[in-house]
Amino acid sequence: MKTLVLLSSILGEASLSSGLARHAIAKIQAREPQGAVIVRDLAAEPLPYFDAAAAGALFTPAQARTPAQQQIVELSDGLVRELFEADRLVIAVPIYNFGIPAQLKSYLDFIARAGVTFRYNADGTPQGLVTGKQVIVLVSRGGQALGTPVDTATPYLRTMLGFLGMDDVTVIAAEGVKMGQESLDRALGQARGRIETLLAA
Ligand SMILES: Cc1cc2nc3c(=O)[nH]c(=O)nc-3n(C[C@H](O)[C@H](O)[C@H](O)COP(=O)(O)O)c2cc1C
Repeated sequence: MKTLVLLSSILGEASLSSGLARHAIAKIQAREPQGAVIVRDLAAEPLPYFDAAAAGALFTPAQARTPAQQQIVELSDGLVRELFEADRLVIAVPIYNFGIPAQLKSYLDFIARAGVTFRYNADGTPQGLVTGKQVIVLVSRGGQALGTPVDTATPYLRTMLGFLGMDDVTVIAAEGVKMGQESLDRALGQARGRIETLLAA
């Protein structure tokens, strides 16, 4: 088993979502000693914003690309290759200003490639091409919003991942981590417990 872990917190060592990811990694390594775990820290090594240059590069046919465009496509190709090679994806997701971090959004923008990670069928319906992966989304949020209209982040992630073909998605959320010590301890304890149960099977 190969596991790709995406971290996206800007809080470094203090990050709770990265802490949950470390907990998951420990469980995965204990369960799969022969497996490989690759960690990509999108905050420590940020991708560029997905801007006009990036979109232009990906939409330009290979033979017509400038060297700068080729470089951008190679960056995207590397991310896509890494994703396809993984059997399991663990995404650590802090909630900032009601959404996912910009660094994680950039990653998703760079891997959403028509004809590569998704395609349109003859009838116009989209088909995700990144299939057969277990996805574990580890959320850390100051307040409590899961299951309410305020939580736009996890429905977005489910939609985006599903669009790319990943529909085996488990969301484990530590919520209320900024609502006092008791709430923090309870949220982290429950999230860790759910990670252990999920990865014990
Ligand atoms: C810049 C910033 C924005 C935040 N925005 C929200 C928010 O909109 N809603 C919320 O419930 N908590 C918010 N929080 C609290 C974070 O969700 C909480 O600190 C969480 O643990 C972040 O994950 P991390 O520790 O992995 O970085 C925010 C925190 C920061 C630093």
